[in-house]
Amino acid sequence: MASQKKLVVVLGATGSQGGPVVEHLLKHSSSIFRVRAVVRNSDSEKAKALAKLGAELAQADFDDEAALQAALHGANAVFCNTNYFDQNTIDSELYRALNVAKVASEIPELENFILSSLPDARDLFGGKYQRNFIYNSKAYIKEGIRKGFPELWKKTTVFYVAYYHQNWLKFPAVFGPIKQQDGTFILKMPHPGNFPVSMASSLDTGAIVDAILKAGSKYHNQTVALVSERMPEEKKLAIWAQAALGVKAVYQEVTPAEYKKGLQAAGVPVALAHGLMELSELIAREEDYVQPPGVIKGQDIVDRSYELTNWERYVKEEDWSSLL
Ligand SMILES: NC(=O)c1ccc[n+]([C@@H]2O[C@H](COP(=O)([O-])OP(=O)(O)OC[C@H]3O[C@@H](n4cnc5c(N)ncnc54)[C@H](OP(=O)(O)O)[C@@H]3O)[C@@H](O)[C@H]2O)c1
Repeated sequence: MASQKKLVVVLGATGSQGGPVVEHLLKHSSSIFRVRAVVRNSDSEKAKALAKLGAELAQADFDDEAALQAALHGANAVFCNTNYFDQNTIDSELYRALNVAKVASEIPELENFILSSLPDARDLFGGKYQRNFIYNSKAYIKEGIRKGFPELWKKTTVFYVAYYHQNWLKFPAVFGPIKQQDGTFILKMPHPGNFPVSMASSLDTGAIVDAILKAGSKYHNQTVALVSERMPEEKKLAIWAQAALGVKAVYQEVTPAEYKKGLQAAGVPVALAHGLMELSELIAREEDYVQPPGVIKGQDIVDRSYELTNWERYVKEEDWSSLL
């Protein structure tokens, strides 16, 4: 009976993480979960597509506490992903996440709160990266929930998603290979091309969230990470170049200062350019900082029949026309 199904409310439901969560739960676990997708505009094509899959729609902006109260009403579980890049400030992302946390903390039926997050870069690599604002923001959010909403924190599973495969298409000017006049592609990043990057397809978020939810309280107060593999960008580029109709592609390591200058020249404001510079510098590492000891590997908890999307498969399945 529909009323006995647990209600999972997905925030950021039209996004790279929330969308696959809605889709996976409806396709694979609709006998136990019903899904409410929270969107800012229920008339958008993406929102309509979620409704077509069977999601209930609720319209709310994270800034609007009353709308959030209606959207989260009766939730047994909440998947929360806030978007730093919506306003490009820690203040706005933190404000929004704590708004969600406040509303979630007042729901009597709530059993699980899954918080999409990232490691605190300030504590990594000898404290070299203090101004990766995109990661710092997530650390403030975790601290804000832990201190401000301790009962909610007890039901929280922190969820780290590694550097998306999709970043080349999502943010081509920041992370992608750029086509030159002679047709060659150059990928310029501020890290050695032969150091591995932890990465994942954002499409796999749904399978991990499903596994966390099905485990009940097992992952409360734990961190689960989604990493499909670790691969240097030189190798990523070579696989892509071959699959992308045999184009020629070259990796070029640039200094962090050059990288930042390039972003600013492309119109990125200075603070965001600095944050992206630190982020892009730190992602290529010998050690896997996304899933260090103590962090649960998503691949260990996901349904055995589910295969995480590796880069090779992703490259074959993706539509690259906008980049080519
Ligand atoms: N790129 C990566 O490799 C990576 C890896 C791990 C974590 N992250 C983190 O992921 C976050 C972005 O998530 P994403 O990749 O899913 O982004 P996305 O694809 O751009 O989606 C963002 C989602 O958030 C919604 N949203 C934004 N502001 C909102 C607001 N004020 N109220 C309600 N909904 C709002 C958007 O709704 P609309 O449809 O209305 O715009 C959309 O559904 C960032 O904070 C980033 O740090 C990224």
